[in-house]
Amino acid sequence: MKKIILIGGSGILGKYYAKKLSENNQVHVADIGLKKGRSGNNRYNYFLDIRKEEKITEFFRSLKKKYGTFDILINNAAFTTEMALKKAKSKKKDYFSTKIWDQTINTNLKGPFLACKYFIKYHHNKKIDQRVINVGTIYGLYSPHHKIYDSQNFFSSISYSSSKAGLVGMTRWLATKYAKEKTSFNLISPAGVFNNHNKKFISDYTNMIPKKKMASEKQIYSAIEFLISKNADYVIGQNIFVDGGFSAW
Ligand SMILES: NC(=O)c1ccc[n+]([C@@H]2O[C@H](COP(=O)([O-])OP(=O)(O)OC[C@H]3O[C@@H](n4cnc5c(N)ncnc54)[C@H](O)[C@@H]3O)[C@@H](O)[C@H]2O)c1
Repeated sequence: MKKIILIGGSGILGKYYAKKLSENNQVHVADIGLKKGRSGNNRYNYFLDIRKEEKITEFFRSLKKKYGTFDILINNAAFTTEMALKKAKSKKKDYFSTKIWDQTINTNLKGPFLACKYFIKYHHNKKIDQRVINVGTIYGLYSPHHKIYDSQNFFSSISYSSSKAGLVGMTRWLATKYAKEKTSFNLISPAGVFNNHNKKFISDYTNMIPKKKMASEKQIYSAIEFLISKNADYVIGQNIFVDGGFSAW
């Protein structure tokens, strides 16, 4: 049974990961949308705002003190464009909002940076096999096809792409630095997961995907399952696309 820290565990994918991971592991799930408490034998929940360094250091320090060294960190939290639009007073698409830029970079790039920083500080141990998985998106290295968002009341933001592209560089930097010390860092880059999107969007989106389908939670989770498996310890610094072939065109 591994000890896992999952940050961003109350959203669409995070909920699924928390459920699956807690079947065989002790999972500590932190999210801005959770309250501290226990839900199930193997699952512990925490309120955490990944943008706040003093809270993150305290979170990692107290886990170490109470439970000892952890084996796995998954950085899954994100400020998505959907969230930005929900929060915005005006429904107009503001492509260049500096406020959204700051919030996205602070959550999606600085947040995982801080989590990695304090995971290394409090939990890194050269004697045990440890894994860190950062969660990117296909839009980190490939631009959205803007046209498919023209007819929608949502879009994929410049800050979202930029933050996730930054994660690729950060993950590779950490991967090569710590490979010899038995901690592997990798990234997964999912394509869009079906979440009751409208017909027009599904049709436009799947048109760009060789498999002609949106992803499911289960399909994205398969990459996490692989990366935490025992024999995946020679997989270092990779960006694994789970995208129905989108990046293979
Ligand atoms: N769902 C998709 O189609 C898709 C596609 C590609 C990549 N991804 C990536 O997968 C991950 C999960 O996506 P999702 O669709 O489940 O998104 P989601 O919006 O449902 O979940 C994101 C989670 O992050 C949490 N969060 C946001 N700000 C936070 C903060 N400051 N501190 C702590 N937690 C915070 C939210 O509360 C939420 O639980 C994200 O990193 C996302 O970028 C998702």
